[in-house]
Amino acid sequence: MRLLHIVGARPNFMKAAPVWLAVAEAGGFDQELVHTGQHYDVNMSDIFFAELGLPAPHYYLGVGSGTHAQQTAAVMVAFEQTLAEARPDLVLVYGDVNSTVAAALVCARLLLPVAHVEAGLRSGDRTMPEEINRLLTDQIADLLFTPSADGDVNLLREGVAPEKIIRVGNVMIDSLVRLLPLARRSGVLDRLGLAPRRYAALTLHRPSNVDDPARLCALLETLGDLSARLPIVFPVHPRTRKRIEDLGLNATGDIRLTEPLGYLEFLHLMSEARLVLTDSGGIQEETSYLGIPCLTLRANTERPITVDHGTNTLVGLEVERLADLFNAILDGTYLWDRRPAGGIPLWDGQAARRIVAALEQLNGGMLHSIHTTSKEVAR
Ligand code: UD1
Repeated sequence: MRLLHIVGARPNFMKAAPVWLAVAEAGGFDQELVHTGQHYDVNMSDIFFAELGLPAPHYYLGVGSGTHAQQTAAVMVAFEQTLAEARPDLVLVYGDVNSTVAAALVCARLLLPVAHVEAGLRSGDRTMPEEINRLLTDQIADLLFTPSADGDVNLLREGVAPEKIIRVGNVMIDSLVRLLPLARRSGVLDRLGLAPRRYAALTLHRPSNVDDPARLCALLETLGDLSARLPIVFPVHPRTRKRIEDLGLNATGDIRLTEPLGYLEFLHLMSEARLVLTDSGGIQEETSYLGIPCLTLRANTERPITVDHGTNTLVGLEVERLADLFNAILDGTYLWDRRPAGGIPLWDGQAARRIVAALEQLNGGMLHSIHTTSKEVAR
C-alpha cells in the first residue's frame, strides 16, 4: 500500500511524525510526505521536522500565507497535481488546519480514500475556522481515527457510519512520550534565565484573541498585572507579533517575549512551568498529560476531555476570571487536577502503532472495499 501523508502547519508535524515512524518500523508500506507550506518560517516548520525525525518532504507545495480562500485554493490546485504524480492508495490528513480540509476535498473528488487522524473533535463554535475544517474533513474521510470517546460520539451523532470510526488514542501524546526525556535536556530554562516552577508559559494566536485590538489589549494588560506575581514567558506566534507591532502595543510588567520555540524547547518550558496560559488546542492536551495546570483563554474547547479528566480550565472571555483563576492556582485554592488514575485512556504513546495495525488490516483487503464503495456511491 502506498501512503501519502499531508502536513502544512505547526500542529500537524507532531501528529504526523509518530505515524510516519510507526509505518516505517512496521514495514510493508511505501510512504511519502507532502508539506503544503502553510507554515514556512524555520522556527514554525523546519525545526520541527528535524526534532521530530520527519524526513524532508517529498513534495513541497509552497502555498504560504493568505486569506482562507487563497490558502485553501492554493493547496487544492497544487495537491491535485501532486496526486497525479504520487499515485497513493490512501492519503492521511492530520488535525484541523486549512491544509487538512483542502487535501481531503481534492481526494474526495478523485475518489481516493482518505484517513483523518484526530477525527471527531468538536467545539460547537462555527466561528472558528478549525471547526469548519473538522466538520467537513470528517464528512468526507473514509477512515476516522479518534483520540478519545467523545470523538466517536460526535461522529456517530453526525451520521458517520460506525465501521469508519477507529478509536486509537492521541498521536500528539506519542510525540510527547517519545521526546520528553530529550526535551528535558534542551537547556531552554538556562537560556532564558528561568527556574523550574517559577514562571508561567503563555501562547496566544487565535484570531478571536489577537485579531480584535480591544481583546488583545485587555489580555496583555491583565497578563502584565498578573506577571508581578509570577513572570510570564511568551513565545510569540508570527500572527500575534504582527498584530502587536501593527497596534504599537508594548507588553507590560514581567512578560518576557521570545521568538516561537522549537518542539523540544517548548515541551521543556511547558513541563517545568508553574502554570500554562494558552488558546492552543494541542497545549490543552499536553499539559493534561504532563500534570501542569492550564488556563485556556477561550470560551469553548473541542477537547472537553482535558477539562473533565485533565488539568485544563476554560477561562471564558472575562479578564477578571483569568485573574481570579491565576491567583487561585498560585494560592493553592483551586482544584485543577482531575486526571484519573492511569491517565486518559489511550493517551499512552502507542496511538500511532494502533493506526498502523488498522492500516495493516486494510492492506489485507479492506482497501479494495473502500474503493468499491466510493465508486458505487459515485455511480
Ligand atoms: C494555523 C491554523 C491553526 C493552528 C495554527 C498553529 C488554520 C485555519 N489555522 O493558524 O489551527 O492552531 O496554525 O500555528 O489552518 N506566518 C508567518 N510564518 C509562518 C506561518 C505564518 O509569518 O511560518 C504568519 C503570516 O502572517 C500568516 C499568519 O502568520 O498570515 C497566520 O498564518 P496561518 O497559517 O494563516 O494561520 P495560523 O494563525 O498560523
